[in-house]
Amino acid sequence: MAYAIEIDHLAFAWQGGQLTLDIPHWQVETGESVLLRGPSGSGKSTLLSLLAGVNLAQQGNVSLLDQSLSNLSGRKRDRFRADHIGYIFQQFNLLPYLSALDNVLLATQFSPKRRQRVAESGQSAEQLAIQYLQRLGLSASQQQQAAANLSVGQQQRVAAARALLGAPELLIADEPTSALDSDRRDDFIKLLLELSEQNNTTVLFVTHDASLGQYFNRHVELSDINRAAGGSPHA
Ligand SMILES: Nc1ncnc2c1ncn2[C@@H]1O[C@H](COP(=O)(O)OP(=O)(O)OP(=O)(O)O)[C@@H](O)[C@H]1O
Ligand SMILES: [Mg+2]
Repeated sequence: MAYAIEIDHLAFAWQGGQLTLDIPHWQVETGESVLLRGPSGSGKSTLLSLLAGVNLAQQGNVSLLDQSLSNLSGRKRDRFRADHIGYIFQQFNLLPYLSALDNVLLATQFSPKRRQRVAESGQSAEQLAIQYLQRLGLSASQQQQAAANLSVGQQQRVAAARALLGAPELLIADEPTSALDSDRRDDFIKLLLELSEQNNTTVLFVTHDASLGQYFNRHVELSDINRAAGGSPHA
């Protein structure tokens, strides 16, 4: 499989709004780590919602792992996302009353494929979840805390562990470092990339912060691929 993400002639406008995305062509190769940057309001989260199949483009095609999302029913898109995509949301979407550890374990509860990949690792989901949380700097007692009682930076790290569990082919991360100081942010990104590489996970990481480009195989400006932003797209 050559491409983890392939976009063709994509056009998307929010209801009643102006065209937000107009992307003639864009690809991310399998195994690449890509930083996607653009100013606030430029359409980064909108693009990620189309990649994850949360919203559908009005025109054009989005394929992930050679599967065209527009050919799938809503239910099948949900299943596809659970099986193949680890998604760290800009607002983290943890279940506040569940512990950090149980939030991480949710990743496998909705996906037999991810449970299977955990089983193939020779460890239980719980062992792997604890390992990820430890490496991301959450102590044993923090792992048992309800998510609502954790700091924002801790919640971001829980969301990252959940996205990684079960080795999804694609990790999509929407500004997951906004609450971290710069030392912790750099450590977090290095660890995220290291764990992704171990799992052969392709990474698309969205941020405003151009200084993070050094950690990734490729740095892309949204305005360079999006004609709706008045950029000069490379077809
Ligand atoms: N649910 C929505 N309904 C209508 N318009 C929306 C919705 N979400 C985003 N938009 C609009 O789409 C445009 C792009 O927003 P988006 O959230 O994709 O930007 P962003 O690049 O992720 O910004 P930020 O860096 O602040 O997160 C904005 O003009 C925004 O108002
Ligand atoms: Mg956003």
